[in-house]
Amino acid sequence: MDTSVLFCGVKFSNPTVLASGILGVTASSLINVARHGAGGVTTKSVWYKEHAGHRNPVIVVGDHYMLNAVGLPDAGIEKTRVELPKLLKESPSPVIVSIVERSIADFEKIAEEVAKLKPPLIEVNISCPNVDDEFGKPFSCSTVEAGKVTRAVKKRVGKIPIIVKLSPNVTNIVEIARSVAHNGADAICAINTLGPGLMIDIEMRASVLSNGVGGISGPAIKPLAVRCVYDIHRATGLPIIGTGGVTTGRDAVEMMMAGATLVGVGTAVHYRGIDVFKKIIQEIEDWCKKNNVKMVKNLVGILDSRSMKNVKLVS
Ligand code: DHB
Repeated sequence: MDTSVLFCGVKFSNPTVLASGILGVTASSLINVARHGAGGVTTKSVWYKEHAGHRNPVIVVGDHYMLNAVGLPDAGIEKTRVELPKLLKESPSPVIVSIVERSIADFEKIAEEVAKLKPPLIEVNISCPNVDDEFGKPFSCSTVEAGKVTRAVKKRVGKIPIIVKLSPNVTNIVEIARSVAHNGADAICAINTLGPGLMIDIEMRASVLSNGVGGISGPAIKPLAVRCVYDIHRATGLPIIGTGGVTTGRDAVEMMMAGATLVGVGTAVHYRGIDVFKKIIQEIEDWCKKNNVKMVKNLVGILDSRSMKNVKLVS
């Protein structure tokens, strides 16, 4: 079966994409994920300068969810200049480079430097719940700031398409999506982690994570992610990487029906191992065969809108 999809002009052999910050600490670990069948791989978010992460414990597993506050550790652009060319050369699947910063001026700097290395796609992480911008909240929580970052990055990357990663932690994600679309985003990744959430060790009367709180991921957030993807797809028509709780092929089919062209896989690596990509692709194919869908790309946006007749866009 043809499992390929086209995303911003880049061909992916299948719609699964390793989400940012998962397994991808070095070039060789990302190459390994691509060799295990991921249709695409996203790097961890890179900073211009070296950035220390949080102390352990940074991840905790609950029932149907995980909390994490890794703190986006990164060695900075000099290390990226060494690692990224190797990754771009050797990865059998397209590489998405995730960038993060705290100010618009720094976003411009990292965007320009990363663009020089010519990745096929750049993801703009404006939505980490544990990293505030210079004004104390993620850029993705303000229509104005989200638009400004998008415009600034877009100006610095030449022809490389940019994917803006949005947060679910807003009253109206459609408003934010429209703002980034209006300011030059080529695609959207939805959603980043929810929250942050808090898990308490009740014997210790203390937070489990060293950071106190952490972003919520995993199966528990899937319905929220699917709804956000549906709303953004209807409102903007931009290509979307649907991310949030996708664990099985059925989850991937659901995300694509809502409007995602690619499907991000992160926490599921914890549940199903590195072969999760191959497993999900096989399950998508099995579902398509059983349901007479000839090509996987035909799943995108086919949710029957009549079943949504009473649901209005928030804006
Ligand atoms: C971290 C980054 C994220 O983008 C996120 O959603 C959750 C946690 C982090 O590294 O702390």
